[in-house]
Amino acid sequence: MKATWFNWRMAGGIAAVALMFNASTVLAAGEAEVAEHLIDLVKIGRGVMSEQMGNINDASKTNKGFTGDYMAAQVIERFKKKTKIDLRIPNAVPQAGLYLALVEAEKDVVDEAQPVINRAGIGFKGFIPAVFARKTGENFYKKTGVKLKLTGIDYRNVNNRPDDFEAEVLRMFSDPRHPKGQTYVRNTMLDGRPVLRMMDPEYAAASCLSCHGAPKGGKDITGGHKEGWKEGDLAGAISVVLPLK
Ligand code: HEC
Repeated sequence: MKATWFNWRMAGGIAAVALMFNASTVLAAGEAEVAEHLIDLVKIGRGVMSEQMGNINDASKTNKGFTGDYMAAQVIERFKKKTKIDLRIPNAVPQAGLYLALVEAEKDVVDEAQPVINRAGIGFKGFIPAVFARKTGENFYKKTGVKLKLTGIDYRNVNNRPDDFEAEVLRMFSDPRHPKGQTYVRNTMLDGRPVLRMMDPEYAAASCLSCHGAPKGGKDITGGHKEGWKEGDLAGAISVVLPLK
């Protein structure tokens, strides 16, 4: 396993920096960029999860070596590759506290799933990228008050249900006139408070169709009902709600 620099002391360091984040004191400028980076961080973690599916669901192994530390190190490394932002030197990064709180949420979710991941003798375990994303969003919200979720029109998990704003933007995304892949961002109010909202559309890839594809209503490996999507259909969106003051 790579990336062992991310030891428990570093994890403690992250927790300390994450605690310094206070939603009411930041985000004067560049909020849209901050929201984009949060989306990057969760997508990167979900990508790591996708790569690990074969390992996680390998019934012949017990210890999978897929730990929270591994997740955190991979997310930080790949985030740096993508954005040039190095979260290992947080003092140089204006929103490091917020970003590291998300990395820490991703780490926590993988750590909490260790008994599932390492369970002997069973194959498919239900710890999939979408579940990882939902739990990460829930954990991150508790830490920071920033909402981050995967949502969709025909959602499976009630916690992913779109609110009115999200439902409207999802309808817009599903309109063929909406340019594919274009995010939607807007300053608005939520519960009487100014917020920045960003939504990033996601589309069905071939790899999604075993669960979300045809036949519509048929059962998938998770026991859920397939949506009947075709490749390229709108699958949903990642939604961020960033408090501004
Ligand atoms: C192994 C089956 C499986 C695969 C493969 C899969 N999903 Fe899902 N997906 C699920 C399940 C189960 C949920 C509900 C997760 C939860 O509990 O939050 C879900 C949730 C979602 C959601 C959130 C809305 C909702 O339904 O609750 C989106 C969006 C989504 N999936 C898109 C995708 C995309 C895009 C892909 C391919 C890149 C994909 N899924 C691959 C099973 C799968």
